[in-house]
Amino acid sequence: MPRLLPRSILHAQSENPLLAKLLPTCRSLASARNELRWLREHAIDHHATERSPASKGDNNNWRARLKELVARRARGEPLQYVLGTEWFGDLELVCRPGVLIPRPDTATAIGYLVQRMLERDPHKWRKTLRVLDLCTGSGCVSLFFQHEWIRFMPVIPEIRTIGVDLSPKAISLAQLNRDRLLRTKHEDVERHKASQASHFYDTAFIESLSNTSFLHADVLEESQLWQKLEAEHSLAADILLANPPYISRWGFQHSTERSVRRHEPKMALVPPLPFSIPGKDCPKRADSDDLGDLFYEPLVKTALKSDAKIVWFEVADIEQAARVAHLITSMASARPEQLELWREEPMPGIEGLEGKDEIYQGFIVKGRGNGRSVVWWRDG
Ligand SMILES: C[S@@+](CC[C@H](N)C(=O)[O-])C[C@H]1O[C@@H](n2cnc3c(N)ncnc32)[C@H](O)[C@@H]1O
Repeated sequence: MPRLLPRSILHAQSENPLLAKLLPTCRSLASARNELRWLREHAIDHHATERSPASKGDNNNWRARLKELVARRARGEPLQYVLGTEWFGDLELVCRPGVLIPRPDTATAIGYLVQRMLERDPHKWRKTLRVLDLCTGSGCVSLFFQHEWIRFMPVIPEIRTIGVDLSPKAISLAQLNRDRLLRTKHEDVERHKASQASHFYDTAFIESLSNTSFLHADVLEESQLWQKLEAEHSLAADILLANPPYISRWGFQHSTERSVRRHEPKMALVPPLPFSIPGKDCPKRADSDDLGDLFYEPLVKTALKSDAKIVWFEVADIEQAARVAHLITSMASARPEQLELWREEPMPGIEGLEGKDEIYQGFIVKGRGNGRSVVWWRDG
């Protein structure tokens, strides 16, 4: 990390003392200025929506709030928690401490998944489309999947989505995000009455959000998960999506950013240690090499049990992607050509210049950047 020069600190101090407070966290004047602008806008908006008749015209309230926001950010709290929202593709989602902040790479992969499904066979899913999103967190993956589907697919079947998470905080945030989107879309319908295209999209999204539910369950306890899904909804799925905790304990200590380690929930990032079934002394599961792979075996079992035709898993890097692909071929007798490893930017580049698929450990690799997903076309 580059050192901050004393003259930059003095410069920031003379421009605005709040800028100097943000500088050590933001590391550059340009980004400190941007963040201060967003925090100020947020403090003013918040003040405007909360203003009581008694405090009308009182500018000090938003200034006091801005100081609090800057202090939180200066302590290293992620900007998304301080502002309370983050964009995931073009959906604005609420973020709260205790639940992982959605990442842009995840949105890119989900957008590309829908694009590939469109290219493969847009008319395949005519009736109900059942989506299972395991380890749902803020609900970002399942909410964005529906949004992209409705935007691009020529056929809009009835979409039924279930998101599952072990964290009660995640479940209530995912529900809040669904309800907030529903409210916004209802408002959009009112506003766009004249425009046929956006009306069609808004009403289809409202319908699919109304068929979206979130379930508190443990993905590592497959049989209980399956029973819960059967009892409350249905275990059968067409599409299974999962971004599980996948960082090894070593990776968490040595290569995860400090702000992530300090402020985001560890249970969202690092699989648990092997533990024992009460009353038995054998380990329940052994992630013996501490590679962070613990979730993928139960996820593959659930993919098979639910008979999902398309499966997407997020992973940490290309090595983990290859391990997961090998696991799928051995557990499910999948053919290597049914599997693809995607990098952070999986979409092909300009023909002839870049974007040629590579092969890694016998699997097709798409795109540029670090390995980020494994896709299993079970119907391929
Ligand atoms: C990497 S985060 C992904 C969150 C979200 N899908 C996203 O893409 O931002 C992993 C999620 O798995 C959840 N989780 C951890 N252990 C779990 C378990 N045993 N069963 C179900 N969910 C679990 C965490 O609470 C967290 O929300």
